[in-house]
Amino acid sequence: MANTASIEIEGKKYDFPLVKGTENEVAIDITKLRGSTGGVITIDPGYKNTGSCESAITFLDGEKGILRYRGYSIEELAEKADFLEVAYLLIFGDLPTKEQSEKFHNDIKAEAVVDEDVHKILDAFPKSAHPMGVLSSLTAALTAFNPSSVDVSSEEDMYKSVVRILGKFPVLVAWTMRKKSGLPLDYGNKNLGYVENILKMMFKVPNEEYTQNPILVNALDKLLILHADHEQNCSTSTVRITGSSHAGLFVSLAAGISALWGPLHGGANQAVLEMLEAIKTDGGDTKKYMAKAKDKNDPFRLMGFGHRVYKNFDPRAKIIKKAADEVLGDLGVEDPILGIAKGLEKEALEDQYFVDRKLYPNVDFYSGIIYRAMGIPTDMFTVMFALGRLPGWIAHWREMRLRKEPIGRPRQIYIGATERKFVPMEER
Ligand code: ACO
Repeated sequence: MANTASIEIEGKKYDFPLVKGTENEVAIDITKLRGSTGGVITIDPGYKNTGSCESAITFLDGEKGILRYRGYSIEELAEKADFLEVAYLLIFGDLPTKEQSEKFHNDIKAEAVVDEDVHKILDAFPKSAHPMGVLSSLTAALTAFNPSSVDVSSEEDMYKSVVRILGKFPVLVAWTMRKKSGLPLDYGNKNLGYVENILKMMFKVPNEEYTQNPILVNALDKLLILHADHEQNCSTSTVRITGSSHAGLFVSLAAGISALWGPLHGGANQAVLEMLEAIKTDGGDTKKYMAKAKDKNDPFRLMGFGHRVYKNFDPRAKIIKKAADEVLGDLGVEDPILGIAKGLEKEALEDQYFVDRKLYPNVDFYSGIIYRAMGIPTDMFTVMFALGRLPGWIAHWREMRLRKEPIGRPRQIYIGATERKFVPMEER
């Protein structure tokens, strides 16, 4: 393959180098485009064809349905690793040794206490507030309680901030849920595993012991691993671009949480459950909703189907589907919602509209079903996604800072009014 690509603009040819990744992905490096052509830029709304960076964290091939963190397949990680090992892998580049793993967990536990004043901020939110808004605000507020900025040239400083947020974030997640359900805040137990402690912090009721169910621990561990990174998606790009102004880690994460909230991104897991509930309430006629999804005059979309990158079965969806069956089987849940989900899935996979557009169930089609069976309220689903995505966001923020990436500042093609004279109020 040639090493350059040529673009001809008004009869003049310009050559640009090609950049090749380790998985043979190819990009045209247009960093010199504007300068060499006297102002020409590219336009690509939604960045469907634009690489914003080079990254060594996650590889995904949407056509083949491949997802790997630092070279390890998602299938293998979900089966053999736990969430904290995966977090370490994503953030620092390699699987931890036993000593590194123990130190990492101990350092996280040492940071798992939140300033009591954060509690007061939480109390000021109405119970009706959406947990994603609360979580984003509390994460940004952590900056006020940990004001020293991270010296990115110091490995120690960087490590400290990483363990600090990995320690405090689950507390914020659990508190957000407990506040909504009117339960007293709980700090869990330092002797528990990371995921077990999250479950305890979320579910322990004051007048009884919390008993761990290994199937739920395993399912949540898997869910968090599967959500841990997904290269340059909307929220991760938001974290990178926010951090590119040298804004701190916590506020960059808060920006990512806000981006994740939307129903076209992380909010889809909530939207899926709401859609399934609505179909159930409406009599359970999946065919009617399939027709709505295909009708271009109807804004309805089948939530949990389709993906910007996967044009094949989302590899995470396959793993999660199995976990969903295990959890529902273990808990003996007979959920009519599951029947509707299965019906929709079957119809969509056989429907020409969905086949032609390569629309397959994505990870969020099943995650909500598991969360619901675990007793997590629907509006907390996206918060659970944020909990899983945290290591990915941190890894990207760290990589972006260590690579000394420039501030993210896209250009535009202006299509507004050309210069005009100001009209005084009385003449308008
Ligand atoms: N239901 C019905 N039709 C759909 C759906 C859907 N869920 N998704 C895409 N389509 C159709 C579009 O109408 C379009 O049809 P057309 O070519 O006839 O105009 C075609 O498929 C391509 O769709 P786009 O919107 O161009 O695809 P894009 O890559 O921009 O969008 C997205 C991807 C946003 C995920 C979309 O598939 C969607 O809205 N899905 C539902 C929401 C969802 O599940 N989001 C979660 C994503 S995964 C995550 O964030 C973890």
